[in-house]
Amino acid sequence: MTSLADQGLAQLGGRSSVLSRQKRDHVRLDELLEQLSRAPAADQKRVLLRIYRLVFPHAFAEESVLWPTIRRVLPDGEPLTLQVEREHQEINELVMRLESLAPGSTDWDVALTQVVALLRQDVRDEEDVLLPRLQRKLTPGQLRRLGFTWEAVRRVAPTRAHPFVARRPPGNVLSALPLSIIDRVRDVLDALAYRGGRADVGALSTLSDALGRAAHVLERTPGLGAGEHPSTRRRSGTRWLGVAMIALVAGSAAMVAVRRRRLAAEAATAAGR
Ligand SMILES: [Fe+2]
Ligand SMILES: [Fe+2]
Repeated sequence: MTSLADQGLAQLGGRSSVLSRQKRDHVRLDELLEQLSRAPAADQKRVLLRIYRLVFPHAFAEESVLWPTIRRVLPDGEPLTLQVEREHQEINELVMRLESLAPGSTDWDVALTQVVALLRQDVRDEEDVLLPRLQRKLTPGQLRRLGFTWEAVRRVAPTRAHPFVARRPPGNVLSALPLSIIDRVRDVLDALAYRGGRADVGALSTLSDALGRAAHVLERTPGLGAGEHPSTRRRSGTRWLGVAMIALVAGSAAMVAVRRRRLAAEAATAAGR
C-alpha cells in the first residue's frame, strides 16, 4: 500500500479524483502550519482563521461523504474511520478551547501545540492508511465522482469548530445549513477586522465572538447529535442547553409581549377617562 504522499497525479486518478483533492488540501495545510510556526503571538489568530477555513469544511465533507463510503466498502471501515473521527473531535474541542484563551499565554501555547500535532497526525492517518485502502476498492471513475461530491459539500460546509454536533450523519448534515451561515458571516466579519494585517479588537471581532458562542448553543439542539458514536460525543451533559436557551428566549419574548399589551390597554383606559 503506497501513501498518497508518494503517488503522482496519474496514480491518484487525475486532478478531480478525491485523492488528488485531499492531497492538495493537505499540502496547503502544511504551508499554513509552517506560517503559523513562524508567526508572532499577535499574528497567530489571523493565520489560524485561514487554517480553520481550510480544515473545517474539508473535515466536514470527509465526515459526511468519505467516511460513510469507507464504512460501506471496507469490512474494517468502522474502526478505521472512528479513529479519524476521534482526532477530528479532539481538534474541534481544542479549537473551542483556544477561543477562550489569550494568544501567547501558557495555556494557549499548550493547546496550540496539541492542535498542530493532531492536524499533522490526521493527515498521516488519511494519506498513509485510510485513503490508500479506499483507493484499492474504487475505480478511477468512482474516485472522480466521489471527488465531485466531496468538493460540492466542502464548498458549503461550516468553517469553524463545532464540537457538540455529531461527527456522523444525520446529525452533522442537519447542522450544516444554520452553522455554515453563521460561520460564513463570522468569516466576513473577521476578514474585515483583520484587514490590513492588524487585529481590530473592536465591534466586528466582538460580534464575531458573540456569533461563535451562539453557534455553540445552537449545536446542542437535540437531533444535531444524531448518529454520533459514543466515543466522539463531547461529554458536557448540556445537550439540552439548546432547548433551554430557545425556551428562555421564547419565554422572555412572550413576557415582553404581554407587558406591552397590558401597557397599551392601560393607556387606552386612561385616554377614555
Ligand atoms: Fe483530509
Ligand atoms: Fe481529516
